Amino acid sequence: MAEKRKFQAIKGTRDLLPPETELWSRVEQTAREVFGTFGFGEIRPPIFESTELFARAVGGETDIVSKEMYSFEDRDESSVSLRPEATASVCRAFIEHNMQALTQPVKLYYTGPMFRRERPQKGRYRQFYQIGAEVLEALQQGQGGAKDIPKDAAVDAEVIEMVMTFFVRLELQGVKVEINSIGCRECRPKYVKLLREELQKVKERLGADSQRRIDTNPLRVLDSKLESEQGIIAGLPRIDEHLCADCAKQYAEVKRQLGLRGVAYKENWRLVRGLDYYMRTTFEITAQGLGSQNAVCGGGRYDGLVELLGGPPTKGIGFAIGEDRLILSLQEARGGSAAQGRDVYVAWMGEKAQAIAIAAAQRLRSEGFRVELPPMEQKFGKALGQADKLGSRYALILGDDEMASGQWTLKTLADGTQAKYTEAGLLEFLKSRKGNSARV
Ligand code: HAM
Repeated sequence: MAEKRKFQAIKGTRDLLPPETELWSRVEQTAREVFGTFGFGEIRPPIFESTELFARAVGGETDIVSKEMYSFEDRDESSVSLRPEATASVCRAFIEHNMQALTQPVKLYYTGPMFRRERPQKGRYRQFYQIGAEVLEALQQGQGGAKDIPKDAAVDAEVIEMVMTFFVRLELQGVKVEINSIGCRECRPKYVKLLREELQKVKERLGADSQRRIDTNPLRVLDSKLESEQGIIAGLPRIDEHLCADCAKQYAEVKRQLGLRGVAYKENWRLVRGLDYYMRTTFEITAQGLGSQNAVCGGGRYDGLVELLGGPPTKGIGFAIGEDRLILSLQEARGGSAAQGRDVYVAWMGEKAQAIAIAAAQRLRSEGFRVELPPMEQKFGKALGQADKLGSRYALILGDDEMASGQWTLKTLADGTQAKYTEAGLLEFLKSRKGNSARV
């Protein structure tokens, strides 16, 4: 006899179930609508790609690539990985489909699962979902350099404005935007050198992780959360005091542009990102109710990434929202997820009533109402109990009396009141209660 085995979802992965999935759909639909109004189109890249793509784009030394990727050998013995993020794929697709020939900039958004072998906790999963967007602009002849600074800054600010528009639409609570500039190829290496020297001086007082990072990635020391290191970090040189003239100008212009768009923000010179491709503008957005994993969105500018992947000189800026965290925060604010509910529960008894009930359900569903039609007849008492359990707003009662008179009974479950309607009158009444969603 086969061994009885109880299967469970793999650690760090989970099933998303109704009624919660309804909120997921609504969030994704809202993203599509809002991003559409900013001129973005959807891209759906594959879920696995060449491991080398992520190593090159995100950085071989980053935690994401060096420790957290799910990689496996394909049949041709090449190494492929489940995507830990999607910016690399979007840039690969930009090159592969020769998108530099399109009207620039190219504005794309995506939604879907990402995979990182992190230690699972609230708001941190091994399969998680992102809603992200990227703006890519291949440089035309004579473009680039200092004269593009105001334009780039306006694009950065508009991208942040778009995320905020989306969050406002969702009524996400306690949203805070933090921004920084991490400089460019000119000024960052000089700052990193200085930072490394200063970190060497205080090395003995740092924890093991930070000590290691002095060599591998000193910028990451800045976002250490270790209590004992906070005082030391506060005394380190700040990047905003070591930006080159162009980066300083760009950063100032981003702040001015955010002001023009009514986006409130806080500067945080310690905001460095966990991916290597960024330059200049970086940002993170936090929301309430999330505990330590409170970043719902991260992003920044990545000019040069497309070129690094073998494409033409191209500018880039984008972000990704952690959808799992966004949903958690929305649920936290509204106190758990609401029951899915039905608009109308059709309680019927008798063969004749069944045919009428089926037709009524068809009609109501075609009007967008959520209808529960029990497959078997039930005593009305039981039917009403069932309607209540399902969170129905109304019960439509179709029994002998209704069949004889052609007057249907509609019971409002919240207060128990009843009223009689003809079929046409019923539809008219329900439609008048419909509001702006499909729910009555
Ligand atoms: P990231 O900061 O690595 O950036 O991820 C963006 C967001 O994804 C985070 O702020 C967080 O909300 C969510 N997230 C990340 N890891 C997890 C996890 N293990 N569990 C749940 N949520 C998670 C990027 O991925 C960049 N590609 C963003 C970007 C696009 N930059 C430019 N364009």
